[in-house]
Amino acid sequence: MSTSAHTPRSLLVTGGAGFIGSHLVRHLLAAHRDVRVVTLDALTYAGNPMNLADVQAAHGGRHRLVQGDICDGALVARLLAEHAVDTIVHLAAESHVDRSIDGPLAFVRTNVLGTATLLDAARRAWAGRADVRFHHVSTDEVYGSLGADGRFREDTPYDPSSPYSASKAGSDHLVRAWGRTYGLPVTITNCSNNYGPYQYPEKLIPLMVLNALSGRPLPVYGDGQQIRDWLYVQDHCEAIWLAATRGRPGETYNVGGDNQPTNLTIVKTLCHILDELVPLPTHESYEKLIRFVQDRPGHDRRYAMDIRKIAQELGWRPKETLETGLLKTVKWYLDHPEWVRSVHSQGDYTGWLEKNYANRSQSVP
Ligand code: NAD
Ligand code: DAU
Repeated sequence: MSTSAHTPRSLLVTGGAGFIGSHLVRHLLAAHRDVRVVTLDALTYAGNPMNLADVQAAHGGRHRLVQGDICDGALVARLLAEHAVDTIVHLAAESHVDRSIDGPLAFVRTNVLGTATLLDAARRAWAGRADVRFHHVSTDEVYGSLGADGRFREDTPYDPSSPYSASKAGSDHLVRAWGRTYGLPVTITNCSNNYGPYQYPEKLIPLMVLNALSGRPLPVYGDGQQIRDWLYVQDHCEAIWLAATRGRPGETYNVGGDNQPTNLTIVKTLCHILDELVPLPTHESYEKLIRFVQDRPGHDRRYAMDIRKIAQELGWRPKETLETGLLKTVKWYLDHPEWVRSVHSQGDYTGWLEKNYANRSQSVP
């Protein structure tokens, strides 16, 4: 299968102060000495300049962090022109499903309107050029939920369940429309659940680690038998780079870790890692903190990605195993208390869970 090579020189990475974006910026500045990067990030609760502090120290001459909103078309147009940007990697988004249940409109604004604003600025700035690329970072959640069998393929029909996933589905459609209508060279990756350092502790894995360390309950939604396809964030960054530089314009590539444990298995595994690394004085397991709580509304039951297309066309495979990745991740949170403090100073998110928490809670049998 033929691929289409694109050589970025000047990149605009949106959402680069967030979890995945900061790993991507670090990865590409370290691996590609001839690229420059402008990070555009609104620095919402999820964006943290500390995520890029080491990048700034190591590669400050080739990296600039601009605080700004992707919905600001004039700002985006100015950055594209001033920095002669030839590649946009778009990650900026409202990313947390629970928050989208509480306040969906912020998701529609950033994820749908923000994506359209970027696409249109790119179309105008690049007018007909082929030596440019708009790469959109999306999610497996656009496909909805799987039953007992099967995996999501790139041609699986969209069937999103949450305001978050519906807004990401909308953004994917916009990207394809700008590709087909205006000839904008676009690529999309739809990826499964990421984990690793710098993930905001509203998401399952860091929330469980930090709650356990402070003796707080570990809230497992519903019966904990939901399945996600976990991928170490560094593997995702390599897939994004490959798709943006060697993927065929107009194509979508599914990315996943080929790991499908239940949520309860993930939580128990984290407890066992902590039992080893930071044993409780009573020698009990952190599992004693597990509580089953009311399920998330519209909760998708199972995700699993078919990654044959990106493997065959671009030679990508995940490198990290779930076992080694989880251990590295827990150790990172233990070793970075100053980062944890900086994140907690913005206040913990409790959201709809807090409202329902009292209704149903029971420790693991
Ligand atoms: P994150 O919440 O950690 O980071 C999002 C970043 O976007 C933050 O830095 C935030 O400040 C910034 N942002 C939000 N609104 C903005 C706006 N209006 N203008 C400019 N910047 C804004 O999210 P993440 O987990 O790093 O996810 C990054 C992208 O990858 C998202 O598009 C998400 O949908 C997608 N994705 C995430 C996962 C995952 O498991 N985390 C999996 C697949 C795809
Ligand atoms: O699949 C990719 C998606 O993964 C990304 O597009 C999203 O941006 C990212 O947030 C993530 O979405 P999830 O909803 O799957 O992630 P979260 O970490 O919130 O939840 C993972 C699973 O764990 C999910 O089934 C809900 C469950 N859960 C989550 C939390 C926060 C719990 O049981 N308890 C919790 O406290």
